[in-house]
Amino acid sequence: MSGHAVLTAQRVEDCVIDQAWERYSAEDHATWRILFERQRETVKGHVCREYLDGLEVLGIGPEAIPDFQRTNATLKRLTGWEVVAVPGLIPSRPFFQMLADRQFPAGTFIRSRAQLDYLEEPDIFHDVFGHVPLLANPAYADYMNEYGRIGLVACECKGVKFLARLNWYTIEFGLIRKPESVQIYGAGIVSSYGEAKYVVDNPSANFLAFDVHRVLRTGYYIDDLQATYFVIDRFEDLFDLLKQTDFAALYDRYRAQPDYTPFEIRPEDVIIRQGTGDYWRSFPATKSRLK
Ligand SMILES: [Fe+2]
Repeated sequence: MSGHAVLTAQRVEDCVIDQAWERYSAEDHATWRILFERQRETVKGHVCREYLDGLEVLGIGPEAIPDFQRTNATLKRLTGWEVVAVPGLIPSRPFFQMLADRQFPAGTFIRSRAQLDYLEEPDIFHDVFGHVPLLANPAYADYMNEYGRIGLVACECKGVKFLARLNWYTIEFGLIRKPESVQIYGAGIVSSYGEAKYVVDNPSANFLAFDVHRVLRTGYYIDDLQATYFVIDRFEDLFDLLKQTDFAALYDRYRAQPDYTPFEIRPEDVIIRQGTGDYWRSFPATKSRLK
């Protein structure tokens, strides 16, 4: 899920396709199983309960690639959301429109078994294993819905770049503080072997308390592990924040100010874990431009 455009269609109806579930091969389902079982093991004890509850209630398991029709029967009843098949990354406007209508755009193809860790764009494992379970949680579902509505406004006032950072540091790579530990909820971590291992086992990254101003100003690299993750306390807080923030004013303000890199810790940051920085110390010299 991302705003980077492959299609140029600006209307939702031109982005929607049929999942054609019956066309998945035995090999496709076998790949799903391998990915599912590996990730379940990797994030065990480190992913938030709301995510695991979603997997269970939606019946998303290792047996086969989920059939959207069946998933949607439950999902719609729980939170009004449905998963809708799209051919790949879609442009910002129809993307936000779908979220605003409680439709989650999901890719239908699955990576090959030979390339379990390599993804040029999100496949069905990322989109469904990563994103869909939390859509069964009412508070998270409301946040995604409101994010879509704010995204539509952002399209009108040149704010998509800033809002993409909010997506990146919450929906894709967010962490949540629980009494037992800091846990994973971001789909980009949940669905990625490398990123999940890194979050769980590697002390390099910073964990900072989530702050919307900080996040809107912090760039990111799309092609490597994160140097900094932002930690929320409750999904309800994210929704309230969207309701209470005048985003258009923030885009205007932050457009005129320099971006932060994901490497720095600011004096006003609340540090939950200060990373060693070992993994990413060589990044700035080798990376292309921050998003
Ligand atoms: Fe995604």
